[in-house]
Amino acid sequence: MTACSFRATILSIRQLTRDIREMTLEMRAPSELSFQPGQSIAVTVPDQNSGSSLLRYYSLVSPPHSSTQLILLLNSHDRGKGSTFLLENEIGAELQISGPHGSFILQDDLDRELLFVGTGTGIAPLWSMIATLFAESSSQPITLFWGLRNESDRYYLQELDLWKSHHKNFSYVLTLSQPRSAWNGSTGRVTDLLQTYTTAAHVAAYVCGNRGMVKEVTDLLHEKGASAVYWERHDEKS
Ligand SMILES: Cc1cc2nc3c(=O)[nH]c(=O)nc-3n(C[C@H](O)[C@H](O)[C@H](O)COP(=O)(O)OP(=O)(O)OC[C@H]3O[C@@H](n4cnc5c(N)ncnc54)[C@H](O)[C@@H]3O)c2cc1C
Ligand SMILES: NC(=O)c1ccc[n+]([C@@H]2O[C@H](COP(=O)([O-])OP(=O)(O)OC[C@H]3O[C@@H](n4cnc5c(N)ncnc54)[C@H](OP(=O)(O)O)[C@@H]3O)[C@@H](O)[C@H]2O)c1
Repeated sequence: MTACSFRATILSIRQLTRDIREMTLEMRAPSELSFQPGQSIAVTVPDQNSGSSLLRYYSLVSPPHSSTQLILLLNSHDRGKGSTFLLENEIGAELQISGPHGSFILQDDLDRELLFVGTGTGIAPLWSMIATLFAESSSQPITLFWGLRNESDRYYLQELDLWKSHHKNFSYVLTLSQPRSAWNGSTGRVTDLLQTYTTAAHVAAYVCGNRGMVKEVTDLLHEKGASAVYWERHDEKS
């Protein structure tokens, strides 16, 4: 799929936590985007200082079968140029976008268990991939490890429980690295969860999050014998 330029308008914005917003874009011209789960789009961000523009990449959370509306997750914590620009726009505002970008997509590992490991908004491409596997009635065992900091950083909880109750092949662990005192769930980083695997030779793993986490997790999986480990290559992106 070759990337093309398109226009989209902001249809809705949902505040999921203090820092995380889910933004739904409606495609304008063209009216649909063909993409594969795991791919991203690049938003053109006007740079007031230089008068030129910057590109900021956002993974698509929504699966390809809903191709007229695109869902993104935005972390507004640090308020850099891209996130500030996106969040200052109101419902109905038009954005210049290109896509789809990236080769972090589902591979054919039909005889393996699928392991998805994400931290923070790194859940975005993994979400699209897992939703696509469900839409295709995949019977492969699917495990999701998702790392967040504390209870108030959690979102998509109802969606995760729905997935778990509807898909017997799906399980997930949401682990908190810095929980407050009353937390009864998993505590620690996603790397701690991986220590429970004596071998990872039987899994195909998809990893997304900050660069340090991606390196640590992929190294650990390789040490445990995994050969099918996939992550986003950032070489050609800003
Ligand atoms: C393929 C891909 C997919 C992605 N998907 C997502 C996604 O789904 N959701 C998401 O939220 N992000 C995603 N990102 C990250 C996203 O593209 C942006 O990098 C992110 O939103 C930050 O961009 P920004 O312009 O807001 O911050 P930037 O302006 O790039 O700043 C980044 C950080 O540096 C700090 N900073 C900037 N300038 C200075 C300075 N002069 N001095 C000190 N500190 C400074 C900022 O405060 C901020 O913390 C993705 C990235 C890639 C490559
Ligand atoms: N397609 C893509 O490439 C793509 C898509 C979406 C997002 N992203 C990237 O994903 C990142 C998400 O950032 P975020 O701020 O939302 O969350 P984050 O800072 O990545 O995640 C927070 C959680 O990750 C843990 N963590 C930090 N470093 C770790 C490591 N080395 N190993 C294991 N766990 C680690 C933190 O633990 P502590 O509390 O102990 O620090 C915390 O629990 C961003 O860098 C974004 O650019 C990439």
